[in-house]
Amino acid sequence: MDKALVLLWLVGRASAVVVDLEAAGGVAESASRSACWSNGGVLNTTLAALEPGDTLVIPNKTFFVLPALASNLSDVIIRVDGTLKFCSYMQLEWPRTSDGSVLECLKFSNVRNVTFTSSGTGGVIDGQGKFWWGVPGIGYLVREENRPRLLKLENAVDVLFERILLHQSPYWTFTAEGVDGLEIRYATINNRRDPDATDHNLIELTAFNTDGFDVSGSNVWIHDSVIWCQDDTVAVKDGSENMVFERLEASGVGVTIGSIAGSTVRNITFRNIYMNHTYKGIYMKFRGDDGIIEDVTYENIVIDSPSQWPIWIGPAQQSDSRRLCAAHPCSICWPTTGECDAPLSVYSNILLKNITVLNPSMSAGVILANASTPMVNVTFQDVTVQNPADEPWGDAQYYCSGVASGTATGKTWPVPPCFGDQTTH
Ligand SMILES: *[C@@H]1O[C@H](CO)[C@@H](O)[C@H](O)[C@H]1NC(C)=O
Ligand SMILES: *[C@@H]1O[C@H](CO)[C@@H](O)[C@H](O)[C@H]1NC(C)=O
Ligand SMILES: *[C@@H]1O[C@H](CO)[C@@H](O)[C@H](O)[C@H]1NC(C)=O
Ligand SMILES: *[C@@H]1O[C@H](CO)[C@@H](O)[C@H](O)[C@H]1NC(C)=O
Ligand SMILES: *[C@@H]1O[C@H](CO)[C@@H](O)[C@H](O)[C@H]1NC(C)=O
Ligand SMILES: *[C@@H]1O[C@H](CO)[C@@H](O)[C@H](O)[C@H]1NC(C)=O
Ligand SMILES: *[C@@H]1O[C@H](CO)[C@@H](O)[C@H](O)[C@H]1NC(C)=O
Ligand SMILES: *[C@@H]1O[C@H](CO)[C@@H](O)[C@H](O)[C@H]1NC(C)=O
Ligand SMILES: *[C@@H]1O[C@H](CO)[C@@H](O)[C@H](O)[C@H]1NC(C)=O
Repeated sequence: MDKALVLLWLVGRASAVVVDLEAAGGVAESASRSACWSNGGVLNTTLAALEPGDTLVIPNKTFFVLPALASNLSDVIIRVDGTLKFCSYMQLEWPRTSDGSVLECLKFSNVRNVTFTSSGTGGVIDGQGKFWWGVPGIGYLVREENRPRLLKLENAVDVLFERILLHQSPYWTFTAEGVDGLEIRYATINNRRDPDATDHNLIELTAFNTDGFDVSGSNVWIHDSVIWCQDDTVAVKDGSENMVFERLEASGVGVTIGSIAGSTVRNITFRNIYMNHTYKGIYMKFRGDDGIIEDVTYENIVIDSPSQWPIWIGPAQQSDSRRLCAAHPCSICWPTTGECDAPLSVYSNILLKNITVLNPSMSAGVILANASTPMVNVTFQDVTVQNPADEPWGDAQYYCSGVASGTATGKTWPVPPCFGDQTTH
């Protein structure tokens, strides 16, 4: 059926339909410039024509595409049985907004009750990020952060995302902004430069800002998934509450809350997570003042051979500019060089329970708040480090400052120096 007929049929139909991208005019297995444009266009038009009860199927073939977006979808299913591959070699003609910002690969705004799924062994959404990351170290200087997110949800209610591999995102992988009700399960994120990479070495890390799942809003549950990326694996953003992240394998720049400023984040739980060869492990970060992070639990987590800080509760350790060691607000180069400023924001009721750090390359961590807004009620219960490293904090193992009430209990070792010691040894 040709494309015009399919659309006529979609628009004129009496009841819910299942529409197949190829039948709707998509061209499979061609990476040509015209296929990329026309497939993106077909995706745009088909998404716009979906009505409640409809299903869009990406059949089990590869479709090369350029950015597509959808808004006001409800009660639909998007079944990715094949592969959507973004034509990232076409950056020069990548669609942009009037201010020059690139369009996200896929963007869904104002959606309700949408399911992204796959039958069989699972679909793939491939951003071909290597074209955007560019030459290690140089690519960032050229494009900085004007790179597309692989999938963005904006004002979404009741979304299920499952059984899909998100591969090589050019920038943040999966961003859900202002979501209420999001479940992600049996999903995989793989943002490696070298498909065989088993760590986050200096070259891999230059796939900068390839965050895994970044979420803001409420009622988010991400579970039974595998994330490998070169930035935060999960990041809970401003104004979030009531979220659970569990049964994950997560390796990147941490299971993260932040960076936060000027908002409250509350009632967040991370549990049963294995972090193999991760860079950071547990990571909570403020980027500015007037933030609150409260009622947070990290439980049953193994941080195996982390290459940087296993545990960090403090300011964001980052640079948002081309100067690697800029302190925004804490320098990546700190404590070797650079500043580390703690914003006027508050951590309270933070529990780390049954956390095991194995063979870290650096000391156990940093627990740092501004003395004017100190942390309250931080508990480390059974937080242990095996085979600790000497640098940079020596026997103390933690840099610990700006804590009004911190307590170490159970088998916790080492005890952060500014905590009360109620351990059993
Ligand atoms: C999809 O639609 C958006 C909004 O109209 C447009 O900017 C974009 O270029 C379209 N994508 C393609 C591949 O035509
Ligand atoms: C989506 O709905 C909003 C609010 O009802 C409306 O302003 C907007 O034009 C709609 N967008 C599309 C693409 O239908
Ligand atoms: C969600 O959408 C599906 C169709 O995709 C429909 O069967 C189901 O009833 C909807 N759920 C709600 C709560 O409306
Ligand atoms: C797609 O085809 C491949 C190979 O033919 C098969 O292994 C896979 O299970 C199929 N996927 C789906 C979703 O049917
Ligand atoms: C952790 O990663 C290393 C390096 O890839 C691998 O040898 C080891 O088997 C992994 N451990 C587990 C438990 O998966
Ligand atoms: C905390 O979040 C969980 C999971 O979203 C929810 O079930 C629970 O009711 C919330 N608790 C409070 C006190 O808000
Ligand atoms: C501690 O966490 C580990 C790793 O997740 C888990 O295997 C173990 O059962 C947990 N211990 C307790 C007492 O919950
Ligand atoms: C605490 O905040 C004040 C005001 O912003 C700042 O001058 C000071 O350097 C901060 N202290 C730390 C330890 O960062
Ligand atoms: C301190 O935090 C724990 C969680 O670690 C919580 O159960 C307890 O209620 C908090 N205490 C106060 C006084 O808020």
